[in-house]
Amino acid sequence: MAVTINTLRDYKRNGEKFPMLTAYDSTFAQAISAAGIDVLLIGDSLGMVLQGHDSTLPVTVEDIAYHTACVARGNQHSLIMSDLPFMSYGTPEDALRNAAKLMQAGAHMVKIEGTDWLAETIRLLTERGVPVCAHLGLTPQFVNKFGGYKVQGRDERQAGLMVQHSRMLEQAGADVIILECVPSALAARITEAVTIPVVGIGAGPDTDGQVLVMHDMLGLGGRKPRFVKNFLEDAGSIQGAFEAFASAVRERRFPAPEHCFSA
Ligand code: KIV
Repeated sequence: MAVTINTLRDYKRNGEKFPMLTAYDSTFAQAISAAGIDVLLIGDSLGMVLQGHDSTLPVTVEDIAYHTACVARGNQHSLIMSDLPFMSYGTPEDALRNAAKLMQAGAHMVKIEGTDWLAETIRLLTERGVPVCAHLGLTPQFVNKFGGYKVQGRDERQAGLMVQHSRMLEQAGADVIILECVPSALAARITEAVTIPVVGIGAGPDTDGQVLVMHDMLGLGGRKPRFVKNFLEDAGSIQGAFEAFASAVRERRFPAPEHCFSA
């Protein structure tokens, strides 16, 4: 059965955890989907893990559309979410035009990074048939504003704002929220405060879903961020690693305390 936005809503309603991984090509999309991963993300992380840049900023809409089409060809039954890259949704009109390209390439949902200022864009996209995931916390497209890749929402003022913005974006029509690198207690608070599914990466064990970058969970690349577990080590095969991630998330064995941040 194909995973849809309703499947994710049902998971939340029933208190079931769900796994999500990045995918950028047809072969890996096939393997990840066959392992029962519910959501495939064509993340702008491809700028770093495929293209070798030191940030996601150089990634273009054409890059994401190309990789979305590749993933769509290999996908079995997962929901396909594609990133709108840096400055492709600076105005609601830009967002609409560029989201259309990703949906026509095979995406079922787009993801945008930001806070309350996204509300108008989310309203416009969702009213016109484009489901939206709002990405909050450590949003990598804002690395130059943050002055580095730092945990967000550690003080009470920032944390309260993030809860407020999450509620606001749900009200504007967001279908999913992603929280990246925030203290576990804040992620639990946001997951409780909204009725839409919340997916975490470095956000503790209490979000409804968990996402990782595929290259990270296979132990590829240099530095291993705190929130990453290498699933290939024990699994012994790439297919086994995807399956191990899926069951660790569903059985609440991942993330463990050593993968989480405190306030
Ligand atoms: O681009 C990406 O891969 C992402 C995930 C880290 C959530 O946004």
